Parts: sequence; C-alpha cells; structure tokens
Amino acid sequence: MKVTVVGAGAVGASCAEYIAIKDFASEVVILDIKEGYAEGKAMDLMQTASLMGFDTKISGSTNDYAKTADSHIAVITSGIPRKPGMTREELIGINAGIVKTVSSNLLKNSPNVIIIVVSNPMDTMTYLVHKTTGIPKNRIIGMGGALDSARFKYRLAEAMEAPISDIDGMVIGGHSDTGMVPLTSHATRNSIRVSEFLSAERLQQVADDTKVGGATLTKLLGTSAWYAPGAAVSSMVQAIACDQKKMFPCSTMLDGEYGLNDICIGVPVILGKDGIEKVIDIPLSDAEKAKMKESAAGVTKTNGLLEL
Ligand code: LAC
Repeated sequence: MKVTVVGAGAVGASCAEYIAIKDFASEVVILDIKEGYAEGKAMDLMQTASLMGFDTKISGSTNDYAKTADSHIAVITSGIPRKPGMTREELIGINAGIVKTVSSNLLKNSPNVIIIVVSNPMDTMTYLVHKTTGIPKNRIIGMGGALDSARFKYRLAEAMEAPISDIDGMVIGGHSDTGMVPLTSHATRNSIRVSEFLSAERLQQVADDTKVGGATLTKLLGTSAWYAPGAAVSSMVQAIACDQKKMFPCSTMLDGEYGLNDICIGVPVILGKDGIEKVIDIPLSDAEKAKMKESAAGVTKTNGLLEL
C-alpha cells in the first residue's frame, strides 16, 4: 500500500508521521515544490523509525511525480495556510491553481488513485477536483468533518470534565467558521445524550467553540493547525488502506442526499478500500436542516468563485 502526501508543510508532515507510526502502509512518498524540503522531512522521519518502531518506508521528492507512481491513496495538503484573521475562503485564488495542477499530475502517474483533499477552502477544492478530473466520486474525498468532529469531542469532554473516550459526536456541513453543523442533539457520553449533562447554553458554547476551532488555533499559532488535521487525515487513510468501513463525516459530491445536488459538503460516509463506499443520509431535525441549507449556500457561493 503506497500513499503519497503532496505538501511537506506542517499538515503534510504530521500526516506522513501519523501514517508511519500506525505502520499500516508499506510506503509513504512526500512531495513538495521547495527544493530538498520533502527529502529532508522524509529523512528526519525515517530516523525516528527505530525509535518509534515502524517499518513504513518514507521518501521525499522535489516535485517529481514519477516517484508517486501507482499510489493507492494521495493526500493533497499543498497551498497556502491561513494567517490570523483570514477565513479559509480567502485562500481560493492561489490554492485553486495549485490543487488543479497537483491532482492532474497525480492522476497521470496513478490513474486509479483515491484523492483526499485537505487544502482550503476544502469543500470548494474538493468540488474543483471533481470538475477538473472527472474521476468517479467515490475516489474524491474532502477532509474536514473528521477534524471538526475531533474538535467537537474535545470541547464536549472539556465541558463535561469527561475523558474523550467517553464521547461520541459528529460535525457535518461545510468546513468553515460559519458552515459547520455540530450535531449536538445526536452527541452522547456512553450512549447518553449530552443534553443530560450540559445546559442548552453550555451546549451552544461548545458548538460555537467547535466552529471556530481552526481560527482559535490560527490566532494562537500564527498559522493554521497541524497535529489534529494530520491525525484526522491519517485515520481516513487507514480506513481506506485497511478497508475498515469506518464512518467519518467527509466532503463528498452529493446527488440528492440531504436534499442537495452538485455540491461537495461534509456528510457521514463509509470509508473502505474503494474510498467513499456509501453516503449515510441521516434524518435531521428542522433546525439542523436549516443550518445545513445555510451551510450549503455558503459553499455554493465560494464554488462560484472558481474559474471552471
Ligand atoms: C483547520 C484547517 C486544516 O481547520 O482547515 O485547522
């Protein structure tokens, strides 16, 4: 199982690191346009192998896509990250050109590759890959909901002073400060609804903190986060590589599910060896439906900025 990670920045490197540590892939290739950078990250990571106990072979390349040939899964993290005060949508101009070139180069060398899009604005970049490559929709997956759900669980656990392993919850909708839809009414602690433990006001605070999870970190770090994004991608890669049939909210092209068409937005899906093997169309409350509709309108507006 060969995995390519395009972009050796913080998210790409964390993603490669977590994939290697989990030791399920035979090979990880990291690619970057900055001369020697991916090679350096790969060498540094390989020098952790004997310490961390993994056998995954990690190599780096300066933009030589021939090295990515026959990848099963490719992760696109390339592009510019946001700076404090910026929205993900403001990155569209530069990142659209990069994502288009990267996906085309990947497919020339790995025609059957499953692509995971991380670059922002992620839902729109996922839509762009659909519109420009024409590959089947099960093979184009946007990473947002897995990360946003991890942040939601972190906030729920914090509010309840509970261990995170007690918590289950999901965030659907667009991967943006205003577009995320934390499914508070479905979230549980050991199968008991979180509303049994937290007031409506506290739950609203948890939802609000979750939605600005990325922006909060960007303000603290001066650039966007990497550990949780890298870990979220590595879990998705593992679900596909190991055919786990695991459920994650991911951005996928919708064809009537949730009443939406011709849009990539976060909804629960099953990830297995074929990529997105199923979209799970769960019943939403009227309030959640309205939020999802509003979120979709925001993503559609950003999609309108693409020059297709
Ligand atoms: C974040 C970026 C990856 O939310 O969108 O941290």
